Amino acid sequence: MSKTFYITTPIYYVNAQPHIGHAYTTIACDTIARRQRMLGYDTYFLTGTDEHGQKIERAAQAAGTDPQKFADEVSAQFRGLWQRMGITNDDYIRTTEARHKKGVEALFRRIRDNGFIYKGTYTGQYCVSEELYVDGLKPGDPCPTCGRITETVQEENYFFKLSAFQDKLLALYESQPDFIRPETRRNEVISFVRSGLRDLSVSRSTFKWGIPVPDDPKHVIYVWLDALSNYITALGYGSGDVSKYNKYWPADVQMIGKEIVRFHCVYWPAFLMAAELPLPKAIIAHGWLLFEESKMSKSRGNIVRAETILDVLGNDALRYFLLREIVFGQDGSFSFDALVQRYNADLANGLGNLASRTLTMINRYFKGEVPYPSQKAAHKAADDVISGQAKNTIQNVHSFFNEYQFSRGLEAAWGLVAAVDKYIVENEPWALGEKQDEESRARLATVLYTSAEALRIVTALAHSVIPEATLKIWAQLGLGDITKFDLAGLKWGQLQLGTKLGKVEPVFPRADKKSIERMQAMEDQQRGGVIAETQPATPEKTALPASEGAKPAATGSPNANITDSKITIDDFAKVDLRVAQVKVAERVKGADKLLRLEIDLGYETRQILAGIAEAYAPETLVGRKVVIVANLAPRKLRGLESNGMIVAASLEGGKPVLASFLEEVPLGARLK
Ligand code: MSP
Repeated sequence: MSKTFYITTPIYYVNAQPHIGHAYTTIACDTIARRQRMLGYDTYFLTGTDEHGQKIERAAQAAGTDPQKFADEVSAQFRGLWQRMGITNDDYIRTTEARHKKGVEALFRRIRDNGFIYKGTYTGQYCVSEELYVDGLKPGDPCPTCGRITETVQEENYFFKLSAFQDKLLALYESQPDFIRPETRRNEVISFVRSGLRDLSVSRSTFKWGIPVPDDPKHVIYVWLDALSNYITALGYGSGDVSKYNKYWPADVQMIGKEIVRFHCVYWPAFLMAAELPLPKAIIAHGWLLFEESKMSKSRGNIVRAETILDVLGNDALRYFLLREIVFGQDGSFSFDALVQRYNADLANGLGNLASRTLTMINRYFKGEVPYPSQKAAHKAADDVISGQAKNTIQNVHSFFNEYQFSRGLEAAWGLVAAVDKYIVENEPWALGEKQDEESRARLATVLYTSAEALRIVTALAHSVIPEATLKIWAQLGLGDITKFDLAGLKWGQLQLGTKLGKVEPVFPRADKKSIERMQAMEDQQRGGVIAETQPATPEKTALPASEGAKPAATGSPNANITDSKITIDDFAKVDLRVAQVKVAERVKGADKLLRLEIDLGYETRQILAGIAEAYAPETLVGRKVVIVANLAPRKLRGLESNGMIVAASLEGGKPVLASFLEEVPLGARLK
């Protein structure tokens, strides 16, 4: 095989468990990879995990474990999920692997040797959550991307001469209009680059969790330079064996979510230019999967796990829904209702029903062998309509999929399913099957051949999206292994007379309301589980929920509702209680009980909303040391994100009294 095709997903951060937002990108790439293989390309598909940086170091710290162990666990979860979902990645790269570190060092050296890295001092704001330097902010300002408070960084760093690449990047976008897709993202990038590029700090010296800068191990390499390199280190760049690198690089498609466009479309090509390496052919940015109206993400606490959907409806249901429902490139909403509705309409009642009725009738009337119209007279115009539509469908689906317009491609394919359904209803094969005359038999053969051939075509076209069901339908059609089929040669009339069907079985059992309830209950339980560990289930506990209306005591008595139930020391250890200092305290407009606090944990600054405005004037709190629950799932109140909870005793009438210390305690100290 000479034609190669290399496709990559972003590598996922290990600070969060996988959810269907991650699965969306991986499924889209898997679909493209499967299709390219069926089209005859020697395809290489890469995914993996991004494990270095301050964000991961802190997540591990909050979990009370070391970063490597933490990364091992979460990376294994991603890998396990992709295996369960039958994702056909050819490699799985982890940025903590030796092969990756070697490659990153080689790339860093090469850029430095080429004169594009120098030493300087960086003073400015840094967003740890985005692992992003943000220009033009003052200390205490929130990150414009995620809204979290940025941290002031003042360190001696290595800088990358990004400013030297402004013109070259603009020339790249100009000469290769398809380098960034879709158009809206391309325009955003062009205007960002036109507005001027500042040199980029590419090392950090205030924490350790990263790849040391070659020859200067006091610094670790900036996590984005480290992470982006995975696309070539996985192919052996910087190692002894560069055969894969030579074969597959540059990548044909680098798929990303729209929030990381700048890193991939500005920094990444600039790094490669500086190293004099070839640039990827296309960066494709898709939109966000939304749930309950905001981006699905761990920090918003609104994730849906793929496992729940796999358990109840199966892999194909999730893949089909995401690619059919969301216009690729735009944001799209997920809901269990919509998922089940799509599943029933298109898979159970659509393709599944077409397969089972067509194949069952071939079994019943033709002893399980594909019939063929023996008489010209048995042919009708309606048959030509189907074959004509099938030919168009093949062309349309190919052109939509070539443009990564999955939803339109699937819509076109399912247009053929609907047409064949109608054709079957109108031609009543079951009535023809009751008659024994030669003409009726010939007509029946034509109708069932036409239906089966259309079914074969939809099955081939849909395989990359719904691999499991189509594998079965293909085998039921007696055609063997669909993954070996030459999709480029797909045309009407390839179904051979006399093909012996395999065992016919339903592929998509219908789902009902109970499936929705089951999935919802599974996810609620999952979220409840997390909340129960970190948030008081009853209001009499001494921690104040970061909620405006929270009443600290149910009855007002400190001894009210004393409980007999015991927890283990391990249960207690799950609650990360820490010392913090209030830096900013202010009232929240329109919320009488609520204060907005910015607190300093020593290692991080955060925003917390606390229902203590009736007991404390904001100015009395600034500078005061408090105890907070540091690992509470974030939540939004009055449009503001609260990241943690202040601990207080709860007195008569619900009056809160903040916990404090007699001795001097350092910020960030853990209570245990
Ligand atoms: N580690 C970086 C990427 C480094 S690539 C050199 C990162 N990781 S991430 O885990 O936060 O997100 C990675 C990708 O996951 C997103 O770009 C996107 O492809 C996917 N998604 C995560 N949440 C998503 C949604 N809610 N919706 C759609 N895609 C989502 O950024």
